[in-house]
Amino acid sequence: MKEKLIQIKEEALLDIENMKDLEELEKLRIKFLGKKGELTKVLRDMGKVPKESRPVIGKMANEIREDIEKEISSSKEKFKEQRKMARLEKERIDISISQEKLKYGHIHPLMKTIKELEDLFMSMGFSVVYGPEVETVANNFDALNSPEDHPSRDMTDTFYITEDILLRTHTSPVQIRVMKEMEPPIKIVSAGRTFRFDDVDDTHSPMFHQLEGLVIDENITMANLKQTIDIFIKELFGKDMKTRFRPHYFPFTEPSAEVDVSCFDCKGKGCPTCDGTGWSLELLGCGLVHPKVLENCGIDSERYSGFAFGMGVDRIAMVKYGIDDIRLLFENDMRFLKQF
Ligand code: DAH
Repeated sequence: MKEKLIQIKEEALLDIENMKDLEELEKLRIKFLGKKGELTKVLRDMGKVPKESRPVIGKMANEIREDIEKEISSSKEKFKEQRKMARLEKERIDISISQEKLKYGHIHPLMKTIKELEDLFMSMGFSVVYGPEVETVANNFDALNSPEDHPSRDMTDTFYITEDILLRTHTSPVQIRVMKEMEPPIKIVSAGRTFRFDDVDDTHSPMFHQLEGLVIDENITMANLKQTIDIFIKELFGKDMKTRFRPHYFPFTEPSAEVDVSCFDCKGKGCPTCDGTGWSLELLGCGLVHPKVLENCGIDSERYSGFAFGMGVDRIAMVKYGIDDIRLLFENDMRFLKQF
């Protein structure tokens, strides 16, 4: 009987190990422990065991039953866990599934240029201010000492909204606004859109951008202007860049000058781009603020003087980024913009 019990135990434990799923395991349980199971059968035959051996055999049989039950239930747990994992795996939702990549925009090369210019002037102690794109004729022309018969005032050159209101033709009216509002010392730059009745080609657009500068204080001279422009050009384009001041006429400055800088391509040696001159022409206009302009804004021209300058930002962006057609800056063609 003992041998039979041990044999059942060994057989059962071995079988349990080989079970593949819960169903097989249940069959096995019935086979060994069920009403007609093998162990039960043996216990039923207890009557045949001599009386004195019964307690020992009985105890042994119970222990074996417990052992088998324990094994079955731990195996059951194992299968349940496996089944759960398989289900979880099957029902798994991949929330990380990749979308089409988000496309990030970036700053337009022109705005980048304006930001760079503003930063540079701020590092030189200038404040950044803004003026409106729709201006009064008074600020855009009259207060800037522009004569009544100046060609830039013509209907064919300027976008008038009414007789007295226009789209500003330059950023210079910001000078007027600032001088009327602030007391000297004044040291500002102002960048923004400007408008002229120009036919579109690779260097002209009816909407373009300028950056204006204005410094008003006691004892401001042409030397301050020249030094400021010189430092600015060297910071922006490189230490080896030279500046050249050519006398010019602007109604709002006296004396006035146009500034040329070393050719961007050959850095002054002379090449086809600069017709061999070594100079890149008309990067900016500048001069000492005309006393009449100061007086127009209520600033004492005996006590204060100042300089002003204005430059085309589109041209600077084009030079900086190697763009050969101004239209590219405004067409919003992604194939172009993505390059910057
Ligand atoms: N406003 C001038 C233009 O659009 C540029 C200019 C020249 C601005 C001389 C100035 C200046 O401030 O002093 O052509």
